[in-house]
Amino acid sequence: PAYNNNLISEIKRLKKEKNAIILGHNYMEYGVQLVSDFTGDSFDLALKAMNTNADIIVFAGVYFMVEQAAALNPDKKVLSPEPNAGCSLSDSLPVDVLKKYKEMYPGAPVVLYINTSIYAKALADYVVTSSTAIQVIERINSDKIIFGPDINLARYVESRTGKKLIKVPPDGKCIVHANYTKQLVELARKRYPNAILMAHPESPLEVLEAADYVGSTNQMVKFAKDSPQREFIVATELGMINALKLKVPEKEFYPLVTTEACGCARCPYMAMVNLENIKRSLELEVYEVKVPKDVGEKAKEAFLRTMRLVG
Ligand code: 13P
Ligand code: SF4
Repeated sequence: PAYNNNLISEIKRLKKEKNAIILGHNYMEYGVQLVSDFTGDSFDLALKAMNTNADIIVFAGVYFMVEQAAALNPDKKVLSPEPNAGCSLSDSLPVDVLKKYKEMYPGAPVVLYINTSIYAKALADYVVTSSTAIQVIERINSDKIIFGPDINLARYVESRTGKKLIKVPPDGKCIVHANYTKQLVELARKRYPNAILMAHPESPLEVLEAADYVGSTNQMVKFAKDSPQREFIVATELGMINALKLKVPEKEFYPLVTTEACGCARCPYMAMVNLENIKRSLELEVYEVKVPKDVGEKAKEAFLRTMRLVG
């Protein structure tokens, strides 16, 4: 793909000069992944942020990810190149709604998907990723569990664990994955008869049931690397193809939905982060993300509780 070499060199120079690192989500555009010191999923990147000696962390991802890296690393300067890059799932769960559910179901454990604001996480008992959600729900000993905000992930977890979840909000969705259908899967399978299908659990249940593998973005990379298969249809946000091409260059990846087929292929929030605003972020040291200490500590505890539960 075409990208600006001067911009890339300048970003690399600034990183060195300022002892900064760039953490990039797997959905970032190709050039952003090239300048990133680490690429991965939101949880993995938050952990990476905790293990660096860098003075500055530029987080190339959407806001809830930057906020979470800041909460887990209160002593570091964590910068968001574009703080308006939100997430439809995170935005679907205002703190007031969560508080209401906690009042309606007193004592029910609250399990939140990582795609939530740090203020919601601070009210949760467990913060899960798509890779830990099933194990956590299996291990919680309660017949009433509040789970949010992704309705598709909730349905998938219900189908795998046999447990019924109280969904908060009742209809939280990712504006990218919610568009996938069984028909799209059938079309892609006809077009790429030698490929197997990997799907992200934010997709509707009918897609997950038709998939050969279901996993988070990091799990997809691992699956593709270890699999004897050579070709894969990828049912997740389009930027993931960049991560797969860079990390598993010997194999072929086809997106379930292309930009030509649907404006929904690319996450508009992820697309807001680019080489230009990363350079500005490094140059001017903007926009610093700070989380109130008590909020950050409560959210961190919900993470650690999850890690203790799933080992
Ligand atoms: P992962 O945690 O699997 O990288 O997913 C993040 C995300 O935003 C999915 O749309
Ligand atoms: Fe949020 Fe969906 Fe974008 Fe991921 S792809 S950041 S879940 S809107």
